[in-house]
Amino acid sequence: MNAGRKGPILVTGAAGQVGAVGRTVTGLLLDRGFAVRALVRRDDDRAAALRAAGAEVVVGDLLEPADVDRAVRGTRRVYFGMSVSAGYLEATATLAAVAREAGVEALVNMSQMTVSEMDIHHTTPSHQQRQHWLGEQVLAWSGLPVVTVRPTIFLETFVPLAGPSVRDRGRIELPFGQGKTNPVSAADVARVVATVLADPGPHLGRVYELTGPRSQDMHDIAREFSAVLNREVGYTDIAPEDWAAGLKQAGVSEHVAQHLVTMGELHRAGRYDRLANGVEFVTGRPATSVREFAALRADEFGGIRRS
Ligand SMILES: NC(=O)c1ccc[n+]([C@@H]2O[C@H](COP(=O)([O-])OP(=O)(O)OC[C@H]3O[C@@H](n4cnc5c(N)ncnc54)[C@H](OP(=O)(O)O)[C@@H]3O)[C@@H](O)[C@H]2O)c1
Repeated sequence: MNAGRKGPILVTGAAGQVGAVGRTVTGLLLDRGFAVRALVRRDDDRAAALRAAGAEVVVGDLLEPADVDRAVRGTRRVYFGMSVSAGYLEATATLAAVAREAGVEALVNMSQMTVSEMDIHHTTPSHQQRQHWLGEQVLAWSGLPVVTVRPTIFLETFVPLAGPSVRDRGRIELPFGQGKTNPVSAADVARVVATVLADPGPHLGRVYELTGPRSQDMHDIAREFSAVLNREVGYTDIAPEDWAAGLKQAGVSEHVAQHLVTMGELHRAGRYDRLANGVEFVTGRPATSVREFAALRADEFGGIRRS
């Protein structure tokens, strides 16, 4: 069924900053012939690129009910995702209120895999993760037809977190201890979201946990980068408090820093040693490996991009 006949698909967070899931979803849906309404926070060159690709761009704030209403009205299917930020739960509840009134037929909600391990007595200190846990409940109470994606850490997150140190010193410097991790490509997450939005019926009510294909410790991940970049890359397990101080010094917001520090602690405790087959289950294609990602983005780690 082509949603273009029934109104566009709304994609929020469509400009993209870290994983840019919304931007990739927009492109994938346009390629498949769907009409897409892309919600962005500001009318900049990223918005112009979305327009040039064929999206209807709406500028608005997900924390402003009137803006959300303007974005949702007339759409039938929605992808909801936005930057890790203090207002995440408020935005989720606002979207839920508007989507209920509008009567959308499917809402794909971005969450996090850590939520799979959370209940009232087992949350984490990350306010972002707690807000995803609560946001999922708000959406469940809303009665909306929801599909939830719960990815583990994005491979793309390694670009800002490890790109500069790999480039400059040949080291991945993170406080992940000996913990294993299995990062998923945000591009794969976007393929899952676009597949669901193209034909939501079979997916309604489901929760998809998304990881990469293999759980590895950071020494092993450093070896993958070495192989791709053709030079020595090692792993330095930095002290969590030094990492926290560095994030503060770099001007990272308190909310994001608190989330990242928790994510580091959970890695150290082995809680990111995960494997789930959501990417292949939904898209029919295996998830991108660390080595494939490093090759695709090699230039950002001081190598040569092989595309
Ligand atoms: N990074 C990870 O490792 C990871 C792992 C699992 C789950 N997640 C989840 O993935 C989501 C982030 O996805 P992503 O990385 O694809 O996002 P992203 O690239 O950071 O893009 C999010 C977009 O949301 C926009 N935005 C922020 N606040 C807004 C507001 N109030 N109103 C309207 N737009 C707003 C931003 O606009 P501007 O660019 O103009 O500021 C940005 O372009 C979060 O829910 C996070 O918890 C992330």
